[in-house]
Amino acid sequence: MGKNSPIGVFDSGVGGLTVVKALLEELPEENFIYFGDTANVPYGNKSKQQLFEYAHNIINFLINRGVKAIVVACGTHSSVTLPDIADQYSIPLLGVVKAGSRSATKITNNGRIGIAATSATVNSRAYTREIQQTNPDYQVFETACPHFVPLVESGNLDGKEVRNAVQEYLDPLMDHGIDTLVLGCTHYPFLTPVIKEFVGKDVNLIDPSYETINDLKGILARQQLYAVGNEEPLREFYVSGNDDSFYKVGNLLIGNAIRKVNKIVLD
Ligand code: DGL
Repeated sequence: MGKNSPIGVFDSGVGGLTVVKALLEELPEENFIYFGDTANVPYGNKSKQQLFEYAHNIINFLINRGVKAIVVACGTHSSVTLPDIADQYSIPLLGVVKAGSRSATKITNNGRIGIAATSATVNSRAYTREIQQTNPDYQVFETACPHFVPLVESGNLDGKEVRNAVQEYLDPLMDHGIDTLVLGCTHYPFLTPVIKEFVGKDVNLIDPSYETINDLKGILARQQLYAVGNEEPLREFYVSGNDDSFYKVGNLLIGNAIRKVNKIVLD
């Protein structure tokens, strides 16, 4: 493992591409390997035991490919599995919850913060814990938005179905008088235009991706692992299920940055 080893990134599907977008913009010289567990999407309704099994299989796959760090580009794994497994591996693993919580606490004025995330993330209360560690007086309102992931996975980013789902899930959060809303599942930032229109200009939307990449920069700097002289970075994409859909929707979401998608079975 060295400076030009790749960074591993994973999610259940295309959601982690929000983090890839930030990675491409902020650290364009880095090699990376992305794994989308499309055979098991959505993660949000899976049991803890299943999620731990997926996490170990994917992390082992990435470590076997020689990654120097892993970005858990998934709110569900960042809240449910990462806190328990981060210390079990010899390379750094980082997720999106700390970053998203930090961004929210920096920007809120009234201390009323909404979290839109998967059911598994909401049930874990990871965001509430993290935010209240900064200030126990902050009030955190979490809501699960189960229809958002299938909509984004199918490239459905606007239209009646999306607008109805946004209204159904976010109306109750707005009733709590939030001034900040964390998009706590990495799929959700792809719905930002519709969500922004619904919540209005007075509510700050937090996409944890850029702050997560900032955390990654800190790790690479401390461990002297920044890529050097890497003019043609390797960018590999793997999925466990539907590769055609990942290719089409993924390219729609991140502006044709995906050249090829490799389908593999993890044991
Ligand atoms: N994008 C993931 C997350 O951030 C997974 C969502 C899902 O598959 O349900 O939670």
